[in-house]
Amino acid sequence: MTLAKDEARERIDQLIPELNQYAYEYYALDQPTVQDEVYDKLYRELEDLEGTYPDLIQEDSPTQRVGDQLAEGFNKVSHDTPMLSLANAFNRKDLLDFDRRVRNLTDLDIEYEVELKIDGLAVSLKYDQGRLVQGATRGDGNIGEDITANIKAIQAIPLRLQEAISLEARGEVYMPKESFLKLNQGREEEGMALFANPRNAAAGTLRNLDPKVTAKRQLNVFLYGLVSQESLAIDQQDQSLDYLTSIGLRTNPERRVYSSMEEVIDYIENFQAKRSSLAYEIDGVVIKVNDFKAQEEIGYTVKAPKWAIAYKFPAEEAHTKLHDIEWTLGRTGVVTPTAVMDPVQLAGTTVKRASLHNADLIKEKDVRLEDTVVVRKAGDIIPEVVRVDLDQRPEDSKPYPIPTKCPVCQGELVHLEDEVALRCMNPQCPAQVLEKANHFVSRNAMNIDGLGQKLIEQLFNQDLVQDTGDLYYLKKEDLMALDRVGDKSASKLLDAIENSKSNSLERLLFGLGIRHVGSKAARLIAEEFKTMDRVREASVQDLTQIDGLGQVIADSLVEYFKLEESQALIDKFAQAGLNMDYIPTRSLEENDLSESTQAFAGKTIVLTGKLSQFKRNELKEILIELGANVTGSVSKNTDLVIAGSDAGSKLDKAQELGVETWDEDQLLAELN
Ligand code: IVH
Repeated sequence: MTLAKDEARERIDQLIPELNQYAYEYYALDQPTVQDEVYDKLYRELEDLEGTYPDLIQEDSPTQRVGDQLAEGFNKVSHDTPMLSLANAFNRKDLLDFDRRVRNLTDLDIEYEVELKIDGLAVSLKYDQGRLVQGATRGDGNIGEDITANIKAIQAIPLRLQEAISLEARGEVYMPKESFLKLNQGREEEGMALFANPRNAAAGTLRNLDPKVTAKRQLNVFLYGLVSQESLAIDQQDQSLDYLTSIGLRTNPERRVYSSMEEVIDYIENFQAKRSSLAYEIDGVVIKVNDFKAQEEIGYTVKAPKWAIAYKFPAEEAHTKLHDIEWTLGRTGVVTPTAVMDPVQLAGTTVKRASLHNADLIKEKDVRLEDTVVVRKAGDIIPEVVRVDLDQRPEDSKPYPIPTKCPVCQGELVHLEDEVALRCMNPQCPAQVLEKANHFVSRNAMNIDGLGQKLIEQLFNQDLVQDTGDLYYLKKEDLMALDRVGDKSASKLLDAIENSKSNSLERLLFGLGIRHVGSKAARLIAEEFKTMDRVREASVQDLTQIDGLGQVIADSLVEYFKLEESQALIDKFAQAGLNMDYIPTRSLEENDLSESTQAFAGKTIVLTGKLSQFKRNELKEILIELGANVTGSVSKNTDLVIAGSDAGSKLDKAQELGVETWDEDQLLAELN
């Protein structure tokens, strides 16, 4: 059913406040009044109406959160009122000193408002007549960065307030613990560097240039301050936060008001104990004089208010016994030690394994088997051994012998001069070979779809392949001998392997897994040298001529090609018929929109039917990366429908509306 434009306008005017209200109840009050499905349904209705009548889209419609990638980085913004920091307190004495100072600086009665100190990033939000107009980082306190596009991508931050008021609110953007764990899990699977803690993850997310990435990462916010608002007649901190809540801004509910420092200390102890059960990270408690008039009397130093202080929690630690050190091998041959310990309760979870980081650290801290060790959670998430409790050391203990042989292949372990890591240098080491193969087939490398870790393990275990070169000599029977591979899936795998032969040179270069050679460097090298033959003959000097390519990468590449095994592997690829040349098409993995194909930029695309050459989600991602807007339903606003087989009503509707439709082959042709 399509509404006439006037009706649509009316309906949109109902839907936006209704959706805003639900979002407010959900995020600001943490008290949803409707089921998610109800919200989703109304949201889709709005999306559809806006799809039909794009000129009715309002700037603060909930559908407008995720904008385009920023091409130029962030603009600077100056804070009219500087964003100050806080003095720290670490113990009872510091708190009592603070209390005394405060009471000496004013004759007014003192009440303290205490809040949790959220471990995230300070932001400033500006609203004009109730509309979000700017989000900024703290920066140096005076000048921050304009991160409005990313701020809008945070669901918990309203685009429109419940009142048409102009104000600036400040608070902390953070990543909930659960989102952090999920994010890192995904990154680990993709072989990407992990974020050390939720704070870093939040910082990285807020400073990335693509709001779509921000939207996916589920940041959240607690506002903790209202920048002076004389017209409002609010004269206490607790009232100002109540007010912020009432207009739709999310504040932390665990705030309290006390009249004595002793009560404040009870609060601190209570939350220090409860800390690990919260859904977000806190690193302390902030104590603020509640009354604004008293705040003014007490005043400021250049850096911080004298009327507030941050009590910092000590990191939670636990003592337990170390029984073993396990060494595991990564793709590049690095062996890393993990402590195996008696299970111990630490910051909310049972911990029995902890990172020892590297061999040097074991020596430095003199960690020995059967020692009692102190463990802590880095960023309160990843357990690590901090030190040894020497008082508990058994009398007969001996220094831990750092392994000299690879735990898997017994090859010599090497301690390279410039690194802390121990490395197995045997390129034939099974564990490394396996990791290398996983990398080789991954999406940004040779992109061999369907060849997952389990299959690769089987291929190696059954001796069907010894290295990645052998993948190109596999026969159908070989594949069908594997668990859970039938005739059809074997054919599909062979196709995928075959297809990968025509990849451009940079994918192969990246897929080789040469240390320090990431996909960007591989691209630069392929672009410059054009053929594998020229790459394998390049000198360090040739390589460092390339803009953006450093000494470390050049050295590593030259070292790699010096090895006979490497040369043999490349020959094996060449004999199997792999393309060894750079094909100057624009890669799908290119994140930089300015360089990627423009055919899809800004287009609204709908996918329908069964796709045979793409996974739907992957295609969606590719199109989004190319700047397209991929939506679920066909409307007049749709630019293009990509239809696989058995496409149903969406294709009909597209034809009815005269929307351009492509099949998969057309799509492939355009992508290439
Ligand atoms: S008040 C002028 N309240 O801690 C006082 N800060 O070291 C401004 N923080 O940069 C800060 N939770 O990012 C305040 N409930 C809270 C906070 C909080 C976290 C951060 C904030 C600030 C830093 C101060």
